[in-house]
Amino acid sequence: MRGILITFEGIDGSGKSTALTDLARWISAEEEEEEEGGPFRGREFLFTAEPTDGEEGRLLRERLKGPRTAEGREPGPRGSEGLEELFLFLADHARHLREVVVPALNRGMVVISDRYSDSRIAYQGAALRGIVPGPMEWVGALHRPWSVVPDKTILFRIDPAQAVERCLSRKGDGPTSRDPEKFERESFLREVAANFEVLARSEPKRFVVIDAGRRRDEVLEDAMRALAEALAQTESQSAV
Ligand code: TYD
Repeated sequence: MRGILITFEGIDGSGKSTALTDLARWISAEEEEEEEGGPFRGREFLFTAEPTDGEEGRLLRERLKGPRTAEGREPGPRGSEGLEELFLFLADHARHLREVVVPALNRGMVVISDRYSDSRIAYQGAALRGIVPGPMEWVGALHRPWSVVPDKTILFRIDPAQAVERCLSRKGDGPTSRDPEKFERESFLREVAANFEVLARSEPKRFVVIDAGRRRDEVLEDAMRALAEALAQTESQSAV
């Protein structure tokens, strides 16, 4: 039996990782309960993420510690940095597929990934603008011959200004609103968010969009509903 692949996407500060932690807790509590029923019963779940904890993923996390903006788009050293990053992300994705995603799907599991190929299309699509022509299409095409397309993608939609505020208050170093890094960061995330919207519009059957600008419990409720519906839908499709 083939399992189900569900991905969670959104810009930094969209709250998707928090919702996933809450969701994983909920599902494992449901697994421990004696009673029958519940939307997630009877399935085995695997929670995973990109970048992974593998070799390339660790390298990427080191690199991503610095500020990330769309500045410096000239095809000089900055351009090659963006390309280097893209290919590291792709190598990480290849390893993720081979070592985690495909084996779990072959065992019939529900695989839930915190970020996946759409993050590449949206983020590197923004980072590589002006460096390669049509970066979103190009990055998408680089995946097509070998990647596994998710059955459902849950997109956390949030205003980039609110997302940046959330990131800064989480870090606790709160630069002022006049901080230039904050403006650069916000304008980069604005581009990334717009790219996610393009993806969601181009594949309305695969994407479910959640309003992530609300309270944690409200977002969790929507995420659970979207996940339960995605499971019911993909199961009824595979039963046909
Ligand atoms: P992530 O670990 O999800 O960030 P956090 O847990 O801190 O919210 O991702 C790290 C960063 O990597 C994030 O800014 C998004 C970026 N990213 C890409 O640019 N391309 C990709 O393909 C992926 C998977 C992530």
